[in-house]
Amino acid sequence: MTQQPIGVIDSGVGGLSVLRALQRRLPARQFVYVCDQAHVPYGTKSKAVVRTLTWRLVRQALACDVQALVIGCNTITALMLAELTAALPIPVFGIIEAGSQAANQTSQTHTIGVIGTERTIQERAYVRALHRESPRNRVVQLACQSFVSMVENLPLTRAQVVQVDRQLAGLKTPGMDTVVLGCTHFPLMRATIQAALGPAVQLVDPAITLAAQVAMTLEGATRLARQPGARHDQYYTTGQPERLAQVAMDWLAVPVEVRALRG
Ligand code: SIN
Repeated sequence: MTQQPIGVIDSGVGGLSVLRALQRRLPARQFVYVCDQAHVPYGTKSKAVVRTLTWRLVRQALACDVQALVIGCNTITALMLAELTAALPIPVFGIIEAGSQAANQTSQTHTIGVIGTERTIQERAYVRALHRESPRNRVVQLACQSFVSMVENLPLTRAQVVQVDRQLAGLKTPGMDTVVLGCTHFPLMRATIQAALGPAVQLVDPAITLAAQVAMTLEGATRLARQPGARHDQYYTTGQPERLAQVAMDWLAVPVEVRALRG
């Protein structure tokens, strides 16, 4: 019997960082990636708007008969995880608990930075999750909304690299040894963020822990070996399919066929 695919939703190209972690962790599984490049970024939008847009992505994933839904986007997780978990008859995974768990395990000093979109930072979802992990955690947050459009339009220009450097200077705090990449787009500019924060800071990509949680929940110890050439993942975007295909090629190193989803 063919296994059902796993759905991954995101506002734009950033969720490819989550998809890559999932493909590595679950190489025999198929995925359906649904994103909304016509409306990215979500991090500046109201909850009502994010809710309407998210449900359209979810309906597309469900139409592909997914076994589980992975919310790549931190903004969607912050605003919609509880609603989607209650409403859907399939397992739903959010990225914020995973990122907080990983950061809590990484930090020695318990002074942890979080960078994310305006909405994610306003919602303080990482602050709550990190305090659940340990009340000793001191959380320093910084909204870096402009980084999202930088990633949607990679590669970065020299002026953008300078801007990243200046902006992240505002995050630097004595004793801070760990920073969570609290937006799916940020792993795609990880080297620039690392250079700005310096080598003493460990960056946490929540996608790695999220992929491990998904694998453990769905497959436990019974993971299948990869069948060469067996990838038949599906990709949908409300934006330009060729744009997503280009970033997927750079990021996943495989050619993908992207279908247009009516915006
Ligand atoms: C955004 O759409 O603004 C960024 C995605 C995220 O929050 O992870």
